[in-house]
Amino acid sequence: MARPLVFGQPAPRADGRLKVTGAARYSAEVKLEGLVYAALVTSTVSHGRVLAIDARAAKAAPGVLAVMTPDDRVKLSLDPLKSKDNDPLHLLQDHQIHYSGQPIAVVIADTIERATHAASLVEVRCESKPAPVDFESAQSAAFAPESAFDGPADAERGDVKQGFAEAEATVEATYTTPCEHHHPMEPHATVASWSGSRQLTLWDTTQAVFNTRNRVAELFGLKPKDVTVLSPFVGGGFGCKGSTWANVVLAAMAAKHVRRPVKLVLSRQEMCSNVGFRPQTRQQVAIGARKDGTLTALSHASVNPTALFAEFAEPCGLLTRMLYACPNVKTTHRLVKLAMGAPTVMRGPGAAPGLFALESALDELAVALKMDPVELRLRNHADRDPDTGQPFSSKSLKQCYLAAAERFGWAKRGPVRSQREGDVWVGCGMASTAHPAYCDKASAMAVLRADGSALFSSGASEVGAGTYTVMAQVAGVVLGLPLNRVRFELGDTRMPEAPPAWGSQQSASVAGAVQLVAELLRDKAVALALADPSSPLRGAKPEDIEVGDGRMYCRSDPTRGETYEALLARRRLPELRVKGSYERGPESARYSKHAFGAVFAEVRVDPELGTVRVSRLTGAYAAGRILNAKLARSQFIGAMTMGLGMALSEESVLDARTARFVTRDLADYHVPVHTDIPAMDVTLVDEGDAVVSRLGSKGIGELGIIGVAAAIANAVFHATGIRVRDLPITPDKLVTG
Ligand code: MOS
Repeated sequence: MARPLVFGQPAPRADGRLKVTGAARYSAEVKLEGLVYAALVTSTVSHGRVLAIDARAAKAAPGVLAVMTPDDRVKLSLDPLKSKDNDPLHLLQDHQIHYSGQPIAVVIADTIERATHAASLVEVRCESKPAPVDFESAQSAAFAPESAFDGPADAERGDVKQGFAEAEATVEATYTTPCEHHHPMEPHATVASWSGSRQLTLWDTTQAVFNTRNRVAELFGLKPKDVTVLSPFVGGGFGCKGSTWANVVLAAMAAKHVRRPVKLVLSRQEMCSNVGFRPQTRQQVAIGARKDGTLTALSHASVNPTALFAEFAEPCGLLTRMLYACPNVKTTHRLVKLAMGAPTVMRGPGAAPGLFALESALDELAVALKMDPVELRLRNHADRDPDTGQPFSSKSLKQCYLAAAERFGWAKRGPVRSQREGDVWVGCGMASTAHPAYCDKASAMAVLRADGSALFSSGASEVGAGTYTVMAQVAGVVLGLPLNRVRFELGDTRMPEAPPAWGSQQSASVAGAVQLVAELLRDKAVALALADPSSPLRGAKPEDIEVGDGRMYCRSDPTRGETYEALLARRRLPELRVKGSYERGPESARYSKHAFGAVFAEVRVDPELGTVRVSRLTGAYAAGRILNAKLARSQFIGAMTMGLGMALSEESVLDARTARFVTRDLADYHVPVHTDIPAMDVTLVDEGDAVVSRLGSKGIGELGIIGVAAAIANAVFHATGIRVRDLPITPDKLVTG
């Protein structure tokens, strides 16, 4: 008998071959009979009105089918600006211009080249009105938002003023982080095809097929079941494919307008204006402590810009409320409205910039106290969630500190600015990381087929996390089937509903549903066998039955049993089918549920050039039960890479004169490349958790980016004695002349 599958096995990606051979079909690659192409005309002013659009030349250009403008377009069922949804849909429904780069016309032609050319022929006359575009100079207009993500904008426990009065050491500093763009490798792409005027199919690259379906249905006055969204592969999302942005709806409008299937793919440049970004932040952090390192007060005030038409508070202070056992904590979030596109969540929203500030400040405190930064964190370890007073469902942060410190060789670290290699300064720094462990309701279907193989499905997204693989593994473990006999399908709104692939919740949520339906299916097959007079299992005790290698058999006598295939053949059943839903139980509300980790960085700084190379990056993470050690590690190193980019190079520069991001491609917006990335060391601290999700797994997609920028900034300080409080850490900030 083959070795049984177990949870956590480092199985390779089920879709790996499809991806590397190009056989995986992404949204932009969908081919349909009669497909035509859309290109956007976008505004060059940041605030104002469209006065007139002259589309005569564009309409006369070769291959052009139509030009949609605010005066000639499909009317939507509701005014998106008045809807409760904050998503910034600017869909030619009026003449208002809210940000530079907003779509104001759409050209549809028979080829993408002709559509793009004709779009350049559209003449637009705009009225431009003055509006604030500079974050720094608009600080005095800051206001409190209704909320910061899933928490209140402001929170205070204890008496912060008193806490600072009791402090024997205090650090206080302002940290700033720039706007960043998600820049997934795959651009946003939609193919829209109507059948009549009431049935719409969208192939769309989305982290949330059901949200896209519901939003589009709402905008076109359709029932959700009349819209089908298909998204079998997503080439990265990181948050920008979590909303139904204008391009999705414009594709559907264009297809309706010309009565042909339409493809709309955003250019890299358009992705800088229309699909969200991580807003820049300005964060003031103050920490008070006793000489022994015990925290007495902590305050964290964050401000970020948002659009004139949408409130998005980057929730920088949420983790500050719970990460350390400090009795007196105050956190606030403020917004400044600018004439810019809407910001949105980006990998580790709030937490990634927030912990850059908090974990840098703790490092400054460690320096002030002449204390080891790991020791300082251990001293303030929170055994219960200090924000809610609740116990943690599980927490292995101490193990993470110790495991990462050990692997990294932290004990060998010397004083600040003490280590050189030739002309290069070497330094080491560390930071904590944490992320809430969300888990949302998910449904799945399972089918056992006559050939003894199984097909599972749930409308989840494959954003790169390995969903196809992990779900098939979970099903295979429960049914006792090898991986090559289980298939998992996803990305289709005709399937049972899965929650969005955001908030690092998808694996925990969907795996619970898959495990549940797999158990139901197994039990159904076993019950059939036990009751079947012709089955070798007839009359056996249910508790004596095990499954493995495609067979049901008795534990007490493994030769007594039969395959699923044999059972279905004898019973003349073409298949067995079950459906089910899983949702975390109400008892989970009594616990604080988070994943934790620790990340350590070693840097080499050239004092003359100001260049920083990260030479080692070590992370230890505790995220509940690991479902696939190989894919988990892969996701961590991807997230750590993104954290390194945040630390050293990623920055979207908004030109205050034009209110446009001038970093409009990957030559200007610097994501790390292979040569920037050291060998990464990831330790997975496995932990049991009976509360957090059905399988005890927590999400990991975001945990790995959080804390990295602080660990690197702290290492840069340790190497050079220069504290950089403004990301990214570019050479100009280190060359002091
Ligand atoms: Mo993520 S920012 O929750 O897609």
